[in-house]
Amino acid sequence: MATVQSPEHYPAGDIVVLDRGNGTRVIVHLHGATVLSWQCNGVEHLFLSSTSVFDNKKAIRGGIPVIFPQFGPWSLGPQHGFARTKRWTNVIPPSTDKNGNIIAAFQLEDDDETRQMWNHKFKVVYTLMLLDTSLVCNFVVHNTGSSSFDFTCLLHTYFRVADINSTSVLGLKGLKYVDKIRESKEFTEERDVVSVGEKTDRVYKDSPKTVVIQTAANPSIEVSTLSFPDTVVWNPWEEGAKSMADMDDDGWRHMLCVEAGKVSSSVILEAGDKFDSSQTLKILPN
Ligand code: BG6
Repeated sequence: MATVQSPEHYPAGDIVVLDRGNGTRVIVHLHGATVLSWQCNGVEHLFLSSTSVFDNKKAIRGGIPVIFPQFGPWSLGPQHGFARTKRWTNVIPPSTDKNGNIIAAFQLEDDDETRQMWNHKFKVVYTLMLLDTSLVCNFVVHNTGSSSFDFTCLLHTYFRVADINSTSVLGLKGLKYVDKIRESKEFTEERDVVSVGEKTDRVYKDSPKTVVIQTAANPSIEVSTLSFPDTVVWNPWEEGAKSMADMDDDGWRHMLCVEAGKVSSSVILEAGDKFDSSQTLKILPN
């Protein structure tokens, strides 16, 4: 049986593969335009739960779910919005540019179902570019209607780590963060090296353009962002993982979500305007 992070596991019509050869490839599921896997020279860098449900209904547990138009609980629809549970269209199939990089683009537009929850006309274009040691995720929201709307958004990246106990995030020192575990009170991060040793759910505000995830066994990964001022750090820890039907019981040990987004305050987008943002994941040399 193929593992959940190999293309053979999925019906061909559900996935799009960006393949550079030599074990460097990305698998995208059209359900949510969710990146399931990012391998570089045969090494996987994203966590995907083996118990994730692939019924084209439920959100995929792992990889890079796209969160739009709402981060967190939502009075108008499901937690984290509808983008992660809608079928996206692969508007630009994988193609190779002159530098050997692979580009593919995915699109989501409003339809009857989205307008029933959130009555706005929009188009989201999500473009992925696979370079030799990095992956660029460009997220653009267009307001295609005749009045303004506001939204929050985020790329909910699940990094695969050998052991959470030897994993840390660099670049957060001095930032204010909202701690959702501690009644959503605000604190200031004092640490240069932010390790995660318990259930963690924090929204760091005004993050620097670059943060780094350091893990003992794997190379470090740099996350660089444009127009994503917030960084969410999330790990459900042991009990949290056990309480989630679609998370491996020991999944919490092997993942850390470091999520780039605009969530502390909304984007207000006027009719005809666009919001252009991105994250670039880069493997740093050892
Ligand atoms: C994180 C949130 O981004 O996503 C957490 O900060 C949430 O509060 C987590 O628990 C997972 O959410 P979900 O809906 O995928 O279970």
